[in-house]
Amino acid sequence: MCGIVAYIGNKEAYPILIKGLERLEYRGYDSAGVAILESEIKVFKRAGKVQELKDYASGHNTAGNIGIGHTRWATHGEPNERNAHPHSSSDSNIAIIHNGIIENYAPLKEELKKRGHEFLSDTDTEVLVHLIEDVQKNNNVDLFEAVRIALNEVTGAYAIVVLSKDNPNQLIGARKGSPLVVGMGNEEFFIASDATPIIEYTKNVVYLDDEEIALIDRYNGLSIKTIANQIKTPYVHELEMQLEMLEKGGYEHFMLKEIYEQPRSIYDSMRGRIDSKRGDIYMGGMLEYKNVLTNADRIIITACGTSWHAALVAEYLFEDLARVPVEVEYASEFRYRNPIINPGDVVIAISQSGETADTLAAIELAKQKGATVFGVCNVVGASIPRATHAGAYTHAGPEIGVASTKAFTAQVTVLIQMALWLAYNKGAINQAKLARYLVELEAIPAKVEEALKSAEEVEKMAKIIARSENALYLGRGYNFPVALEGALKLKEISYIHAEGYPAAEMKHGPIALIDENMPVVVLATKNSQYDKMVSNIQEVKARKGKVFAIVTKGDVEVKAMADRWIEIPDCPEELSPLVSSIPLQLLSYHVALLRDCNVDQPRNLAKSVTVE
Ligand code: G6P
Repeated sequence: MCGIVAYIGNKEAYPILIKGLERLEYRGYDSAGVAILESEIKVFKRAGKVQELKDYASGHNTAGNIGIGHTRWATHGEPNERNAHPHSSSDSNIAIIHNGIIENYAPLKEELKKRGHEFLSDTDTEVLVHLIEDVQKNNNVDLFEAVRIALNEVTGAYAIVVLSKDNPNQLIGARKGSPLVVGMGNEEFFIASDATPIIEYTKNVVYLDDEEIALIDRYNGLSIKTIANQIKTPYVHELEMQLEMLEKGGYEHFMLKEIYEQPRSIYDSMRGRIDSKRGDIYMGGMLEYKNVLTNADRIIITACGTSWHAALVAEYLFEDLARVPVEVEYASEFRYRNPIINPGDVVIAISQSGETADTLAAIELAKQKGATVFGVCNVVGASIPRATHAGAYTHAGPEIGVASTKAFTAQVTVLIQMALWLAYNKGAINQAKLARYLVELEAIPAKVEEALKSAEEVEKMAKIIARSENALYLGRGYNFPVALEGALKLKEISYIHAEGYPAAEMKHGPIALIDENMPVVVLATKNSQYDKMVSNIQEVKARKGKVFAIVTKGDVEVKAMADRWIEIPDCPEELSPLVSSIPLQLLSYHVALLRDCNVDQPRNLAKSVTVE
């Protein structure tokens, strides 16, 4: 949510900032801007995508070796040029970019107005740069100290980078609640919201912690202090990410590339963790907390968005296999409703980005109440894996398409392994049964590969669904969360109103919507509830609904009722979400294409939601 990139070194800053913004565009694309220091600070900004900014700046002098860039996801103020970052101080000598929300911006703004400050935008960010200017002038301190004092006066979340005309060899970055990473190059430095704009230049990075301020001096390097003025020693991490992972690799969209990467990403999420021959499963993070986990009276799983759907799959898995009660919570509700959490409870937080503000807050709450918190996260080194007691990375690789696909299946793969590990260690399943599951799990990447071959048939379905403004997705058991996820994918990228429902629950409401114009996508694979699903499909047919079915290879009964169908390979019900979600991802992709929607950057959404 909002992308930040900054550069200081010997190279021209502008091309590095623009390339960085293009890599970060998945975080927000309402507007984009850069500020470059040559002898003055030059600010270029435009509403809309980074391309608009590029077109605009191409006729201007963008020279300079130090600069900051921002791509915005609007919180305060419309997504127009006036509100685009960077924002400047009254004398235009300081420029700032910001990700997050300054919650007390209104009283600060009033106070600053009384002191003669004039504001040009509706943003909370502009208030912060004026505050820094005000502190610097009134307290006669250097820029770093002014930033530090100002940050002590604000409440809310921020990742910021400050550029000043009077400090031409310095950049200042700070974070609280929003991520910021410093890239340590050869006589050059980078600051960014995540490592994607940096990886091309250096693999050495320092992740800032909350309430830390980094001073980057071109000649003296990086030094860090907390906002309470404590000196910190930077810890340099080496990135494992490869540049190719951030590129489309011949695909038209990141989303399509990521859908097709799933046989590999699912495999990567189990690589080194399972041994099907011996019937053994190794989860490093869980081993350390074996007693807590096997003795837990219940498990609470918290997440947002698609990750919340993975949590629902996990509820079925943990209860079914490990026989432990599970509650699934939206992080945003959980954190504010005074939940009952007891020491001894286990909380699992699931997040692709590892930065979702509500999920982070839920983790803090659970820790305060004495729970042991596990993270299931995709982005290595992100805030969530650092805030949790232990966890497991999903190893899906960078996911750039805003609609989550391979991250979801990687999460489910890890959760299946966690559930099996717990089931085995609690004695709910024996080694022979564990080994059988592991053999089936190993077979999943090939089955996903096969499910991907349905693309042609999916396109035919998409042509019909693309003409509709509504759709219903139905499933039972393990297919219920898959129905929710299928509906979410459709609405996210094609803007068709779609609802996912437990198939039997349909008759308590959504059935009223069904007529000959309503496409109903049914997950009717061969499982323990197949016959019940057949009856639900009949209820849809009786009301003339159009049935689009996902069925198991060789199916006869559902095919006979469906208007169109897609076959997927058979697999055990517990693992089936990994396969049945594939055609639904492809379906949403093709519907969005037919409706001329921006698949990778759907309107109003952002990949990483760092505000609550
Ligand atoms: C945003 C993204 C979704 C994602 C959700 C949770 O809404 O657009 O794709 O599922 O945030 O994000 P997380 O990174 O915590 O999984």
